[in-house]
Amino acid sequence: MKNLPPETTPFFARDRGWHPPAFTPGYKTSVLRSPQRALISLEGTKSEVTGPVFGHNILGQFDNDLIINYAQPGESAIGQRIMVYGRVLDERGRGVPGALVEFWQANAGGRYRHKKETYLAPLDPNFGGFGRTITDDEGSYFFRTVKPGPYPWPNGVNDWRPAHIHFSVFGHGFAQRLITQMYFEGDPLIWLCPIVKTIPDEEAIKQLIAPLDMNATIPHDLRAYKFDIILRGRRSTLFENRLEGN
Ligand SMILES: [Fe+2]
Repeated sequence: MKNLPPETTPFFARDRGWHPPAFTPGYKTSVLRSPQRALISLEGTKSEVTGPVFGHNILGQFDNDLIINYAQPGESAIGQRIMVYGRVLDERGRGVPGALVEFWQANAGGRYRHKKETYLAPLDPNFGGFGRTITDDEGSYFFRTVKPGPYPWPNGVNDWRPAHIHFSVFGHGFAQRLITQMYFEGDPLIWLCPIVKTIPDEEAIKQLIAPLDMNATIPHDLRAYKFDIILRGRRSTLFENRLEGN
């Protein structure tokens, strides 16, 4: 982050020190996932870059409300009610309209609704754990959910994922998908997590931590967390599927 020229040119280079190396043995899965040979550059095809364009008509009425989008009528998910909101921004800080933002998470007890899930915490019959929305003209998005619980995972002898929400952001084509995770301000597990520890720059980690925003909180209803996603440039959000930088 230091001694870089100002971002005045048309192309905003990524700072590769911002991204974790692909091979990080503390995160065991990275050993087999990381490339063993030199990378090959593939040209994108026209259809990958240009289409399809997402429209609001693909969304269901409650797609951005995980509190009720899987619940029986009159029921709601168990857990701490929260709202997550923010903007999808480009490298100059301009909002990106029309981006499809998807999110998925464990329930309040830290359990996913997935057939391969083995954690003993119970499923919540009224919580599915998945939602989506499309950014508005200013690049803003928001959704309601319950705060996910931390969960243990098989890495070291006693590793726990901090509470987190997975995000996917699509631009205007399927080749433009970026994936990241959001953490919650004040969670001590963030700094113990082997996946978080693969990120070499503390500022890059802090950009993944959503602060509690009491101003956006709805009294007697839910608390708000703010999470902006920066697609490109020096202050880009860290994306799991672009570890090598771009
Ligand atoms: Fe997860």
